[in-house]
Amino acid sequence: MVVCHLHIISLKSGVSVAGFLAKLGQHGIKPVFQARVLRWMILPTEMSAGHLLARNTHWDLFLGLESGVVLPPSTQADVAAIWSASCGVGAKALAGYSSLNTTLLNQPRKSITLADVPGHETGGDAPRPGNLELSPEWVQWIDSLPADVREHPVSMLNLLAFNPGKIDQYKQYGVEFAKRVGSRHGGRVKILGRVVESQAKDDGWDEFAYVHYPTINHFASMAGSKDYQEVNQQYRLGALKDTFILCCQEINDRGESAAPRLGTSKL
Ligand SMILES: *[C@@H]1O[C@H](CO)[C@@H](O)[C@H](O)[C@H]1NC(C)=O
Repeated sequence: MVVCHLHIISLKSGVSVAGFLAKLGQHGIKPVFQARVLRWMILPTEMSAGHLLARNTHWDLFLGLESGVVLPPSTQADVAAIWSASCGVGAKALAGYSSLNTTLLNQPRKSITLADVPGHETGGDAPRPGNLELSPEWVQWIDSLPADVREHPVSMLNLLAFNPGKIDQYKQYGVEFAKRVGSRHGGRVKILGRVVESQAKDDGWDEFAYVHYPTINHFASMAGSKDYQEVNQQYRLGALKDTFILCCQEINDRGESAAPRLGTSKL
């Protein structure tokens, strides 16, 4: 196991994502992952909520840095707010992340629309904290996205805190998700790990998972599907004390979306 530092960063106004990454580059820092923050899909209900949901904080960037790599003091002047989690991840998974990233981002992907989602199922029960369902608000937001953002792969950062004794139930969710749901919707866990000594640990978080989807519509149609809701209700919801999901998009060093554009033809 090796340590990976996750940072969610809000940049001061006037500081661009590309400029910030360039500064890291000047210090010889190459993040393991770097992504632009698009929006919260699920808000934390309690843990870190005061910090992450502070008024007027607009999160810009999600970075993963290797063990021992710290943000240089000179970048602090560019940072308006930062939330950090140190996590233990598999050494192999970390070493392989870069090639997995390249593979996933360059994979042919199909353009789908939410109209393709049969039934728009939403699980039935009254919404519970941390629930993941296709809300009208999501649909509206997705419709409002520029086409190149909407048709670009997304990465969902999940932070997880478990109810006492429920870790195994969540593990089972991971198994069922991979077997019954994820693959069908293009969802693929890229890296996961356990939160270790850091602000996030003090806040009560246990684990994180970073999950790829070919486009935001793949994620939304999964959330709206009956097969997902079955697994969600049976294993996920009861296991979680708190969670958040932050929707991000991988970027290159120039701060641009890092994947080939979708052709006009359907793949
Ligand atoms: C992920 O892959 C894309 C596309 O190949 C690349 O532009 C980007 O820099 C990669 N991200 C990292 C952190 O290596």
